[in-house]
Amino acid sequence: MVCGQRSGFGPDALPDVEPPQNLARPEAGRFIPELDPEYEGFLSLLMNLLIIEFRAEIGFANTQAIFRTPGLFKGLEQEAELAADIIGRIRRDEEIHVYSLRLYLGELRELHIKTLDGKLLAGADIIDRFWAGLVHWATVEQPQLAAEAQYSVIRGHIRDQAGSPAMAGEIQAAFDNLIDPRCNRQFATP
Ligand SMILES: [Fe+2]
Repeated sequence: MVCGQRSGFGPDALPDVEPPQNLARPEAGRFIPELDPEYEGFLSLLMNLLIIEFRAEIGFANTQAIFRTPGLFKGLEQEAELAADIIGRIRRDEEIHVYSLRLYLGELRELHIKTLDGKLLAGADIIDRFWAGLVHWATVEQPQLAAEAQYSVIRGHIRDQAGSPAMAGEIQAAFDNLIDPRCNRQFATP
């Protein structure tokens, strides 16, 4: 957690992280072809935001738990607690987004929505279908892609900071042992 020059890892320990350009699911094609693209875009925005909020909440909770793991930040306990506390404030600030998005989408599920051919479709049918696809992307497809991308970054850090090729090999092997055996793809090993 970086806060100006301060960090749970010590001053200037890590560079600031560039946030990704886009956190939503890449939109390839139509998911609700029955509706005008403008309305699909509106529903897509609300649901993508809600997924982002849920995933952020998981990330916040995990990061707080790491900062509060006894013995993990030796000599930096106060900084680590401050970082965890700041994350707690962000979590509280974000809560209202989750409640409001759930409210909007819950209300929209109760409506009937006019389709392009003049019929009426239950909002729940449209929203639940889109939501199921989004959850699959966020919990199955995207984590695998993110893990693959991060693996090569971490591999580079190990190679550059291990001190010697032999030590790098040792650390890399220990790290590889942590790979979830349920992973359905092999990580690239350049
Ligand atoms: Fe938010």
